[in-house]
Amino acid sequence: MMSKEVVVSGIRPTGFLHLGNYFGAMRNYVRMQDDYDCYFFVADQHSLTTHPDTTALRNSVLRVLAENIACGLDPDKVALYVQSDVPETAELYLYLNMLAYKGELEKTVTFKEKVRLQPDNVNAGLLTYPVLMSADILIQRAVKVPVGKDQEQHLEMARNFADRFNNRYTEVFPLPQPFNFGNTLTKILSLDGNGKMSKSENQMATIYLADEDEMIRKKIMKAKTDSGPVEANAVKPGYIENLFTLMNITSDTATISKFEQDFNTCIIRYGDMKKQLAEDMIRFITPIREKANDIQNDQAYLDKIMKQGAAKARARASETLRLVRKAMRFS
Ligand code: TYM
Repeated sequence: MMSKEVVVSGIRPTGFLHLGNYFGAMRNYVRMQDDYDCYFFVADQHSLTTHPDTTALRNSVLRVLAENIACGLDPDKVALYVQSDVPETAELYLYLNMLAYKGELEKTVTFKEKVRLQPDNVNAGLLTYPVLMSADILIQRAVKVPVGKDQEQHLEMARNFADRFNNRYTEVFPLPQPFNFGNTLTKILSLDGNGKMSKSENQMATIYLADEDEMIRKKIMKAKTDSGPVEANAVKPGYIENLFTLMNITSDTATISKFEQDFNTCIIRYGDMKKQLAEDMIRFITPIREKANDIQNDQAYLDKIMKQGAAKARARASETLRLVRKAMRFS
């Protein structure tokens, strides 16, 4: 039997999951779980770059785990774990750091963004963030990494570090590729039309899987639109395209084609479209939110999942570390 390809991906527990995380990552995780050997984790160590309160961080870790399961991930099929439960990653991070250059790290888009956002806390962990991320991926010798568009550059760096390691020592790592069903990586925009939907920017323009019905309605009704297209079959502005993208997971095909047609014939009423989207979104999110609440309250179940996931992740990680040390003549 051919062995399944190895897949790794992680989500930072900086808050609850939002629709960007769902589209860019979670949806692909769920679709990959039967056909690949999957390792999905909550990146709690990555969150330390912003110096969070670690008691609150622990709660976020549990919430994100619960949301992963509520979205359809089966912890008996995939290894679902917490990054800090796999200490093997830290050793690989050390070795990869010797192969990562200050200049390339400083040029990383996410690093430059963080320097702008937190000028008083430009720590070394922030600079080497892509190295830790590479270690997460390479410690499992993954070939596919389901992520959103914003992680593309980090993946390119992971391939560079892997390649340098292979060339300097012995070939240990396959070169990991970013993955999305369909050809391009996804970027969900913020509902106010400014940049990507994210945990740290405008909260009212970010829809969380934990949002209550009224909040979802409020956020969607406030989403940026305009006075509508003035010529038939016009190209959609990004913020309008984004509403259609969201509709794609929540609404039935008849509804979507009705609004597509209305757009193409210039009779679209964005107020109506948003009302419809809000109701469909509520129908989509409510069961996830409720299921995540139940799971989050079941501490014994979550403990069991974390233990089981960590055991599976550590088994493969220590095998990789053995190969790495051998390649480096350490043992
Ligand atoms: P994070 O926690 O910021 O986001 C988790 C996943 O959600 C995707 N995503 C989006 N996709 C589309 N549109 C958006 N607006 C949007 N916002 C977020 C991200 O691309 C990501 O796939 N560095 C990673 C965490 C990480 C990781 C890893 C990922 C650590 N180690 C190893 C993969 C492999 C991050 O900060 O993702």
